[in-house]
Amino acid sequence: MNIGFFDSGLGGLFVLRHVIQELPAYHYVFLGDTVNVPYGTKNDDEIYTLVKKSLQMLFDHDCKLVVFACNTASVTALRRIQNEFLPEFFPDRKVLGVIIPTVETVITNKSKTVAIIGTERTIHSDKYNRELSKLDSQINVITLATPTLVPLIEQSLLQKAEEEAVALIRNKILPSHPDTLILGCTHYGLLKVKLREAFPDLHILAQEEIIPEKLKSYLVRHAEIEEVLARDSQREFFLTKVTPTYTKAIHEWIGNFPIIPCSPNS
Ligand code: DGL
Repeated sequence: MNIGFFDSGLGGLFVLRHVIQELPAYHYVFLGDTVNVPYGTKNDDEIYTLVKKSLQMLFDHDCKLVVFACNTASVTALRRIQNEFLPEFFPDRKVLGVIIPTVETVITNKSKTVAIIGTERTIHSDKYNRELSKLDSQINVITLATPTLVPLIEQSLLQKAEEEAVALIRNKILPSHPDTLILGCTHYGLLKVKLREAFPDLHILAQEEIIPEKLKSYLVRHAEIEEVLARDSQREFFLTKVTPTYTKAIHEWIGNFPIIPCSPNS
């Protein structure tokens, strides 16, 4: 059986690239709902409906475990998927998100004041604040929705996205003196080099540097899942809209694999 990765677009692909570097032996199936990106401006019910259809497709492609490499889907749909959809339709499958692994990393680092940037949906859900305060009631949390960044990254306007992110962090986050900044959208990992250059004193957490280790330790702890996973190093890529940007990203980041158009959500 396989490991599925899901996102609206480039961020999830970027996370998968890093996971493959750490755990190359498994068979990965990526589904990018590129026709519906951005998810961050949609409401909870819309996202839940889109995510359910994508999951169905990933399970049809024999995924035992699916990672939502997407903060927006993790904050809006993961609980409901785990509590309602899986028990009813796929009781033998698992879905994991990116919020808890990120929060655990912040706590391990003993951060005192944490800033989070993310999509509108992620920030307005207050999920990060709640999960962080459950583990550390003293922690200070600053949040900022940065909805212009995903569309810029999706259009390959990286330099503009970097400039905009630097200005937002400088003007709206630094005055609160955080020690840590969570890039709370998987797309933002693509901006991390410039952000680290601009803010060398800030500990910047990028999820593609967190998820590979966390997935590895999850598989060690869940031998019943690990032992049914294929170890054939295959990769499959499905997109609801295939564009030259994605073809280039998949070929440059992961390899010369075919990209299959699909339509669970169009
Ligand atoms: N990469 C996603 C996230 O982590 C979703 C971006 C979007 O579609 O708005 O939230």
